[in-house]
Amino acid sequence: MDLSDALEDWPSGGNQSTGSGMWSGNNPNPNPNPNPTWPGQPQPNPTWPGQPSAGGPTWPGGQPTQPSWPSPQPTSGGGWPSPAPGPTPAPPSAPQRSLSVPYYHQLQNGVHDKMLITIVGTVNPNPQKITVDLNAGHDFAFHFNPRFNEDGHKVIVRNSCIGDKWGKEEREISNFPFVPGQRFEMKILCTNTEYRVAVNNSHIVEYKHRLPNLRAINRLSIYNDVTLHDVQVTRLP
Ligand code: GAL
Repeated sequence: MDLSDALEDWPSGGNQSTGSGMWSGNNPNPNPNPNPTWPGQPQPNPTWPGQPSAGGPTWPGGQPTQPSWPSPQPTSGGGWPSPAPGPTPAPPSAPQRSLSVPYYHQLQNGVHDKMLITIVGTVNPNPQKITVDLNAGHDFAFHFNPRFNEDGHKVIVRNSCIGDKWGKEEREISNFPFVPGQRFEMKILCTNTEYRVAVNNSHIVEYKHRLPNLRAINRLSIYNDVTLHDVQVTRLP
């Protein structure tokens, strides 16, 4: 299978309010109040923008994040898993697993084509910024930095820092998907040429590799104003 097939179900950009098959039935939001920004409706055959559609059905090999999600689906009102099985419905503020922040994950074999990083978190109240880095030793191969108030603007700065020197920032976005107090799911897909980032099933940005030795990228770091619930590193077939 080539990459364009593998990416057949990568979320399309620009529209945060629609869902796709890859998300339906895998909604990690335990809150019974529907979140209007969370995709809910299946969307047939979403395709990567600008890529021809081969009409393929779904994310190949199933839904890569699903095995990692430790719960029954919240769709039938079962809510968040409780240690004591029983009929008690989960309250709206059901406890959520949280990982300590700053969060570090060693990438034993570096980064590679088709590596998929899935991050589930909640933006803290009154946030200034969230940072996700892929580091190669001292260097920042990919620094992804949503800022909530830079002179009154929301921006997502992407950059690399090689040999202690920051490069040219990439800042263009069509959509700033992070909302204070709200849960999000972010996916970073590594390809041979770039990283692709999607949040809540919408493609947000791509970032061409500036540090081409992908095997040297040995750490994922997540920090600043975020509460983390789950981080998974998987490989697309
Ligand atoms: C700097 C900031 C760094 C990093 C960099 C990205 O202004 O201090 O933490 O975000 O921008 O270009």
